[in-house]
Amino acid sequence: MKNKRYIDVVWELFEELLEENNLETALARSLEILVRALHSEEGVIWLLDRNANELVPMFHTGRLDLSNFRAGLGEDLESFVTKSGESVLLTDVAGDKRFAGTLLDQYGFAVRSMLCVPLNDLEQNVGCMQLINSRNESGFSEDDLTLCKRLAALAALTIQEKGLTVGAGDKKEILIRLRGVTKEFQNGEMISRVLKGIDLDIYKGEFLVILGESGCGKSTMVNIIAGMDNLTDGTLEVEGKDFSHPTDKELTAYRREYLGFVFQSYNLMPNLTATENVQFIADIAQEPMTAADAIEKVGLSGHANNYPSALSGGQQQRVSIARAIVKNPKIIFADEPTAALDYQTSIEVLSVFEEIVKNRGTTVVMITHNPEIAKMANRVIKLKNGVVSSVKINLEPLHASELVW
Ligand SMILES: Nc1ncnc2c1ncn2[C@@H]1O[C@H](COP(=O)(O)OP(=O)(O)OP(=O)(O)O)[C@@H](O)[C@H]1O
Ligand SMILES: [Mg+2]
Repeated sequence: MKNKRYIDVVWELFEELLEENNLETALARSLEILVRALHSEEGVIWLLDRNANELVPMFHTGRLDLSNFRAGLGEDLESFVTKSGESVLLTDVAGDKRFAGTLLDQYGFAVRSMLCVPLNDLEQNVGCMQLINSRNESGFSEDDLTLCKRLAALAALTIQEKGLTVGAGDKKEILIRLRGVTKEFQNGEMISRVLKGIDLDIYKGEFLVILGESGCGKSTMVNIIAGMDNLTDGTLEVEGKDFSHPTDKELTAYRREYLGFVFQSYNLMPNLTATENVQFIADIAQEPMTAADAIEKVGLSGHANNYPSALSGGQQQRVSIARAIVKNPKIIFADEPTAALDYQTSIEVLSVFEEIVKNRGTTVVMITHNPEIAKMANRVIKLKNGVVSSVKINLEPLHASELVW
């Protein structure tokens, strides 16, 4: 890295840390800046949990989903760096006898180059900071290592001052797990491969946002998770049970007990009132709440007997949310639910989703083109070229009312 760039990065990090009241967020942002500046694919800050003798990923960015990962203090590189306090710069991982074996199978993708520096406060090693796969052909440089060490020193002091502990990252329960999921569509002679090996865990009670360019496969992926389409290859698990090729009976039960849907178009029955539209679904559900309760939750009690034609777009969308929550589903899929709404109405609708996640513990998976909406998610994943290209954790999701666009 040229000197000028080096100074720019340090300065950017410094400003970030100064301006941010919340040091935890500052650390997460700093890692993002570093990952970007060093043209790295992945970045992780590991903290040592002394009670469990494990390394816990406090922050990570890139396509690795380490939210539930715990690394025992073994022979691998993060452990070595944390235990010894030595930095490691690997430009040829496969050729390095010390770590090649442990590195290659740990992540599920090829590790080419790696930087790992210890985080030590004044007394002890508290963890390490790791950057994986430089996008530059020559890998990471000595300059990159120096920059990383400097940031690690800053990070370690921050961790010490804030008294950050690893308890912040409690293990989450997995509701749905996708591994190597592919999807091919056949158009005449042509086969197009839309999903090319999706690895994703969806946790109970999280607000997950899926971003990605038009046509990248977002709806296709959600359709597969929701049992509306078959996967071509790979596995889908629901609460630990294989659900890759369900029977019709299993599918019906799954849709009835697990899933709620909200789409861009509201799909309400025009000849039924708001309440009747919701009642219709409650009647076929296993353990529903009452239609009146669901209507109240979305703030429409005053319009319960209106027909859709006498409701605004936002109100109609809220009826469709009431219809999704009335059966108490474990997970709600929302595909561009605010695309047809103006700003103010969008915020009202998003506030309903926020409330559902917070107070009912429902998992919400929302597809959107609006990056501002991603700020209210617990996690944001990006799809690109048929794979998950990044996973980002929001340590402090915004309230719907704080979003601006
Ligand atoms: N049933 C189908 N048959 C053939 N091709 C399909 C089918 N469904 C989707 N595709 C193709 O798969 C690709 C991904 O479509 P998908 O609808 O999943 O994209 P998306 O990310 O949801 O896009 P958007 O943001 O525009 O909604 C597109 O190229 C689309 O043409
Ligand atoms: Mg779509």
